[in-house]
Amino acid sequence: MNRKIYISLAILCVLVLSLQAACFARTPDKLPNVKILATGGTIAGSGATNTTTVGYTAAVTPVDALINNVPELKKIANVSGEQISQIASENMTNEVWLKLAKQVNTLLSQDDVDGIVITHGTDTLEETAYFLNLVVKSEKPVVVVGSMRPPTAMSADGMLNLYRATILAGSREAAGKGVLVMLNDTIHAGRDVTKTITDRVDTFRAPEIGPLGFFTGDKPVFYRAPLRKHTVFTEFDISQLTDLPRVDIVYHYANNTGDVIKALTQAGVKGIVHAGTGNGSIGKVEYPAVEAAQEKGVVIVRSARVGNGIVARNGEANDDKYNFVAGDNLNPQKARILLMLALTKTSNPEDIQRMFWEY
Ligand code: SIN
Repeated sequence: MNRKIYISLAILCVLVLSLQAACFARTPDKLPNVKILATGGTIAGSGATNTTTVGYTAAVTPVDALINNVPELKKIANVSGEQISQIASENMTNEVWLKLAKQVNTLLSQDDVDGIVITHGTDTLEETAYFLNLVVKSEKPVVVVGSMRPPTAMSADGMLNLYRATILAGSREAAGKGVLVMLNDTIHAGRDVTKTITDRVDTFRAPEIGPLGFFTGDKPVFYRAPLRKHTVFTEFDISQLTDLPRVDIVYHYANNTGDVIKALTQAGVKGIVHAGTGNGSIGKVEYPAVEAAQEKGVVIVRSARVGNGIVARNGEANDDKYNFVAGDNLNPQKARILLMLALTKTSNPEDIQRMFWEY
């Protein structure tokens, strides 16, 4: 009798365990649906030999080949690809950004899309990530990924980066954290990250602020979340836009003349991000050109060429008197993106200053 009970219990246990295993196994139906939108870059590049890590051609491998190069993707997500552009990212344009952002918003509004991975060249990856961070209207994960070595190189980093970016885009942990950047096992906020080294795989950093998290094996581990407004919490709507207001960056240095500001004003820019010395200083010689630009309605944001730290309002310049906008801790290329989007709403420097404190 006891033996019978024992056998029945054993059978019951096996049944329960099998049922549990079946429930938690990742069947293709249960896998997250992740769209991979490809824009080009080194991650889609090709070199002459397997030691070619400089002087290769970026942006030649189509998205389907990128996906097929990593068969493991199919075990972690239902992936499908779309080619948005095929460019080296130094050639990124407003047109591609708007096309990409609109497609991201369309896809994320669908119930059958859980997350998006964007493959991108590393040169302007941080700009695209910040742009999307401000205009994507969804809390679902969006992960921008690239690589420093082409797929043809020894120790190419793109395949693992793509694999992990796909895990991240299909994860619950990544939701609601704004647009993320994933390279070299490290997860960064799109707002904070920047490329810091010309040629090494550990190039992406968020100076002073640090990453949001890391990968340990196949698991993303977060330690913090961004506090600045992003995605569904922003006031920017690109759905009807076909272009963005023109904003350029002026770099300040010893013996400057102000001629670049004059030329840009003549060219009809709507905004100038001034990458000033130190805490965003504008040289005396530049002031006449700056004021002439403002008379034409050009909005001036004081940023810093230093790359770290906050540009203090009314610090190195009298922002109240001159109607400047202090650029907070955004680097000049990110300040340019926020200024372009701000100018789609207003050209009032006070309102734009509020946006720089919020985003
Ligand atoms: C690019 O930005 O397209 C080229 C460089 C890279 O992807 O690392």
